Amino acid sequence: MPRATDGGRPAGRRAAKAWSGRLQGASNPIMEQYSTSLPWDFQLAEHDVQGSRAHARALCSAGLIDGPTRDSLLAGLDAIAGELGSGTFVPLESDEDIHMAVERRLTELVGEPGQRLHTGRSRNDQVALDLRLYTRAACRRLVGTIADLQAELVRRAREHRQTVLPGYTHLQRGQPVHLAHHLLAYLEMLGRDGQRLRDCHSRADVSPLGAAGLAGSTLPLRREETAAELGFTELSANSLDAVSDRDFAVELTFACALMAVHLSRLAEDLIIWNSAEFSFITLPDSWSTGSSIMPQKKNPDVLELVRGRSAVPIGSLMGLLTLLKGLPLSYNRDLQEDKRHLFAAVEVTEASLRALTGILAEVQFEEQRMRAAASDPELLATDLAEFLVLEGMPFRRAHEAVGQAVRRARQQAIPLHRLVAEQWAELGMPEQAAAVFDLSRSLSRREQVGAPGPRATEEALRRAKRQILAGREWARRQESGRLPSRVQAGSAEVATIRPGQPSAHREA
Ligand code: ARG
Repeated sequence: MPRATDGGRPAGRRAAKAWSGRLQGASNPIMEQYSTSLPWDFQLAEHDVQGSRAHARALCSAGLIDGPTRDSLLAGLDAIAGELGSGTFVPLESDEDIHMAVERRLTELVGEPGQRLHTGRSRNDQVALDLRLYTRAACRRLVGTIADLQAELVRRAREHRQTVLPGYTHLQRGQPVHLAHHLLAYLEMLGRDGQRLRDCHSRADVSPLGAAGLAGSTLPLRREETAAELGFTELSANSLDAVSDRDFAVELTFACALMAVHLSRLAEDLIIWNSAEFSFITLPDSWSTGSSIMPQKKNPDVLELVRGRSAVPIGSLMGLLTLLKGLPLSYNRDLQEDKRHLFAAVEVTEASLRALTGILAEVQFEEQRMRAAASDPELLATDLAEFLVLEGMPFRRAHEAVGQAVRRARQQAIPLHRLVAEQWAELGMPEQAAAVFDLSRSLSRREQVGAPGPRATEEALRRAKRQILAGREWARRQESGRLPSRVQAGSAEVATIRPGQPSAHREA
């Protein structure tokens, strides 16, 4: 998306302020620089134009402007969209924000009709609208990006259905699992992240347009029309809330923060696996960096950045909540500061998702090293205790007996499964206990739902595939449900939208 900070630098030329009737003389340039939101909200330009198109049509159907005026506004807005697309739209330092920049440019392009666009509208409902359009689009995009990472996890998991490695608790070897099972644990986290985004989307899917400054308008504007054109499911039910509610932004930021925590944990697993001590993976050279002094180094910097950058959305969440907590109703300029937090959270999380997807596609899993680590017979100590339980021993006694066996094996510096049969007999265990120390037999006996057995893993892979398809399908449906071609302003469909009530044209 275009940003004033990278390219569209504000030009030095000045234009009159919208409030020149009330305030005398020129603004202090330091005040202008201090209070501008353009470095952030330039990103909202396309949404702002989209919202203005809908508003221009609504003004006309309410009889507040005539057809030719509406058409010249729409033509001007198209021209602005073109300038935004080609990177030739230049905001002015005196514009204050993207809303003023678009209106100022529109008036330059089409003249008097431009002065009619802001009828019945305030920047307060306008910015709330733009931010909701941004949030909806970000949720849709993120759900798709999550599906890409999930697809890569599933692809690698499918390749490594047979690869065994230790599962860890406290970073100590616990019990063996398949690599597929480990990778699919992240698929679950990402699945919940996707659900949260879809949920957040539904809360952002409410049109605030018509709330105007804070108390609606005396003009006969039909809110349902603009809401339908912009594909909103609901109308905001209270004008004061509409211009000051940023819950949806907090929710998206939280969804990003938690997702970033998940990504950070995946990165951390890979960083540990990449250490010489583990050597469970080999990173692709193209995703690694070297050292400026130590010639032998190959570093997992990208993974460390994924871990480190998770701090951004976490910080954004704190920033947003802190920003909101003391605000009286309704709009306060503090709210302008929401964008830097929300946008940073979304940008960082999306970039980290893509980076991890890229690394995961190419990382080499060192099956031999993993299997060697998983072949430590102590990983099957729990299996041994469970074997004794099946023989009728109370679990606490079995645990004690196996614990003693482990201690004894360690004292004698021999692997657990080598303990001689008579030692086992001494400990009260039958000789067949030796059969327990078979890695694949152990795994094949773990077939409960959610367990790492081969059949359970096959089922998990099938479920994962369905989950990914559902995510993609949701994003696709949301996208196509918002095509302007579906808009039939004034139709019965539009008239069904009421505060807090879903509109008929949206899918369940
Ligand atoms: N730029 C502002 C924001 O991002 C919107 C303008 C509302 N300003 C105002 N003085 N009412 O929140």
